[in-house]
Amino acid sequence: MTIDQSLQWATGVLEQGAVENARGNALHLLDHCLGMNKTERFLQRHERILTETEDREYRELIVRRAARVPLQYLLGSAPFFDHELVVDPRVLIPRPETEQVIESAIGLLQTQGIGLVPLVFDIGTGSGAIAISLAKALHAKVWASDVSAVALEVAQINLEKLELETQVTLVHGDVFDPFHAFDLEGRVDLVISNPPYIRHEMVDRLAPEISEHEPRSALDGGEDGCDSYRAIVPASIPFLKPGSGWLVLELGDDQAETVGELIRSQPELSEPQVFPDLNGKERVIAARRER
Ligand SMILES: C[S@@+](CC[C@H](N)C(=O)[O-])C[C@H]1O[C@@H](n2cnc3c(N)ncnc32)[C@H](O)[C@@H]1O
Repeated sequence: MTIDQSLQWATGVLEQGAVENARGNALHLLDHCLGMNKTERFLQRHERILTETEDREYRELIVRRAARVPLQYLLGSAPFFDHELVVDPRVLIPRPETEQVIESAIGLLQTQGIGLVPLVFDIGTGSGAIAISLAKALHAKVWASDVSAVALEVAQINLEKLELETQVTLVHGDVFDPFHAFDLEGRVDLVISNPPYIRHEMVDRLAPEISEHEPRSALDGGEDGCDSYRAIVPASIPFLKPGSGWLVLELGDDQAETVGELIRSQPELSEPQVFPDLNGKERVIAARRER
């Protein structure tokens, strides 16, 4: 089949699988299989015949995409902030909303003046998306934890790819537990996290790309979605620098009030600040350790 014929077939299969933007997905996967850019593919669309190997690989990918395997897992990478990160089913696919969490954190640190080598904790690092972005943007020394050992394998691949192994330290364990061994109390400029925050009963109602393919441990935030915040907020305080250390958290829908109350219940923390995302949703909450 020619490029055009293959695309037509693939778009039909993806439409039958109710894949959003079937044509766009078909194009993306074809470019991936052929190793072509858009211009090359367009110019050769009528006469270039797929080789047997290309045809087989493309069909396999299309069938998997029609079964709602996320596009990024099939491509093996996802863009995030300034980098292309390796992703696979061991980690959550980093989302554009999380880029705004990073921007808010950088803004807060800039406003009060960033030290030469800020010390950052990233809780629940997954692919390493936040840790990597802050290590690059702030020249920060980052400590990143995850309860999932397999997620840390992917984070390690990304650190090596971006030559950040000496700047980012990955530690395996629950929230702050693995940090206690390193004498970092009172020294951290920023604790940042995009924790699992989907309400338990909602996880199975999400799109199949998410509910059937992304790791549960990256999604399920317990009955009200706020279990992780209850673990992170109080436990962050001993590590934050008194007077200047920031806690910055990504929020799920309608969680600003609950998490805000949690922050207000900690006398060491400032009144929380909430930042909306591009759609006006309260997406980020931040507070400073005052004493
Ligand atoms: C929503 S994902 C965020 C991943 C990544 N930071 C990002 O923004 O793309 C949440 C991550 O937290 C991890 N996690 C869940 N519970 C945890 C816990 N108790 N302690 C540490 N990490 C946890 C999950 O394994 C997952 O990698």
